[in-house]
Amino acid sequence: MLNNYPAATSRSAELHQRGKSVIPDGVSRSTVIIRPHPIYVNHGEGAWITDVDGNRYLDCNNNFTSIILGHADPEIENAVRKQLANGTAFSLATEAEIQLAELLCSRIPSCQQIRFCNSGTEAVMGAIKAARAFTNRPAIIKIEGSYHGTYDHAEASLGSDPSNWGTPDQPITIPYSTGTPDSLVEEVVVVQFNDVTGVTEAIHRVGSRLAAVLLDPMPSRVGMPAIEQAFIEAIRTGTRDVGALLILDEVISFRLAHAGAQSLHNIEPDLTALAKIIGGGFPVGAIGGRSDVMDVFAAVKGNRAAVPSGGTFTANPITMTAGFACMEQLHQSSFERLDQIGTQVREGLVAVFAKQSLDWQVTGAGSLFRVHPHQRVVNTYRDAHLDSDEVALMESFQHRLLEREVYFSGYGMGCMNLATSDNDIQHLLNAVDDALRVVAGQ
Ligand SMILES: Cc1ncc(COP(=O)(O)O)c(C=O)c1O
Repeated sequence: MLNNYPAATSRSAELHQRGKSVIPDGVSRSTVIIRPHPIYVNHGEGAWITDVDGNRYLDCNNNFTSIILGHADPEIENAVRKQLANGTAFSLATEAEIQLAELLCSRIPSCQQIRFCNSGTEAVMGAIKAARAFTNRPAIIKIEGSYHGTYDHAEASLGSDPSNWGTPDQPITIPYSTGTPDSLVEEVVVVQFNDVTGVTEAIHRVGSRLAAVLLDPMPSRVGMPAIEQAFIEAIRTGTRDVGALLILDEVISFRLAHAGAQSLHNIEPDLTALAKIIGGGFPVGAIGGRSDVMDVFAAVKGNRAAVPSGGTFTANPITMTAGFACMEQLHQSSFERLDQIGTQVREGLVAVFAKQSLDWQVTGAGSLFRVHPHQRVVNTYRDAHLDSDEVALMESFQHRLLEREVYFSGYGMGCMNLATSDNDIQHLLNAVDDALRVVAGQ
């Protein structure tokens, strides 16, 4: 049965009208906007969500990769209920944060210590501030197109396009939000993903001003390309040569393995930014790393820390309890199952594209994938960047999937949770097959 999205008379459309008068765009996240109106959710269970009109969708986004066990996981629910009865937030510490920190430090060898915060944005910002404080240097290098949250420096060149991105060997640093101070250009140098020569040159060019290189090992907006070992080695060696740090953004990629993507690629970061799955479905972030670097967060002999960090809801016991209840359920076997789900989806999509003789492709790993409506080899943001026709095609694809009970992001990123069954995967592949026939026929 086809879902009735969009419907002018739907409750979602009505809520959008109501929401717009008090919230710009009717929603607080630009990322959940779908035209003509956002979908307002009623509830989720396992691999599925149901909107306020009763439409059901297989969830191929999972709150931007933060849900890993499935919606409304009973063990997280029980743990949170118990904590709720004891209070939700105190201006004092709780044991719950130590419990989650111990679990994460025991899993990730590069994280000897951890400080929590409330989002991935804050985690990346905190890691950059820590690197600056540790090195006493201002500049960072980041990858063109790579998303790291909404901190000014981290979002540089997120939306670059052919009119402004410059040459491939020396991309131009482009501020993302309008009004970002020009000084950003002095403080952020941009390189392309997997460009060994480019990153090596940039590291040595910035040299004694460089605090850190910020790297996501499988950046979704860059197209989820496979990272080349030589690129990792160039960054690791180069940063050590000039006395800078490597910050690994594992906000998404931590769901790729029991100890994150760093364990898959033998990456030894100085600092790691975490978020999403470690909160068990609640708002979270964390900065982990070498204890000598993490010392910048500690007060020394009664003086304030080099990087003071607070946050009214930081390490609140609800999030910490939910995060622990989630992470505790994730064993090596869980990641094998997630890999299996992702492989079935990616192979199934390739088979559908071949059956319909479409020049589409899919990238990704583990439970993550990205669909590209073209056959360009995807190694960098520029390869993955969609022109206006491709953007329109993906938007139409998303709408046709919504009709067929699948929720999938408008730019092609997909993410499955552990509750996804083989029948669900078949549902997705059938929906894609049907949707593409309509889209290709347009
Ligand atoms: C790689 C990466 N880093 C950082 C962030 C920011 O995390 P948050 O949305 O929790 O602020 C995101 C969010 O999607 C992300 O994908």
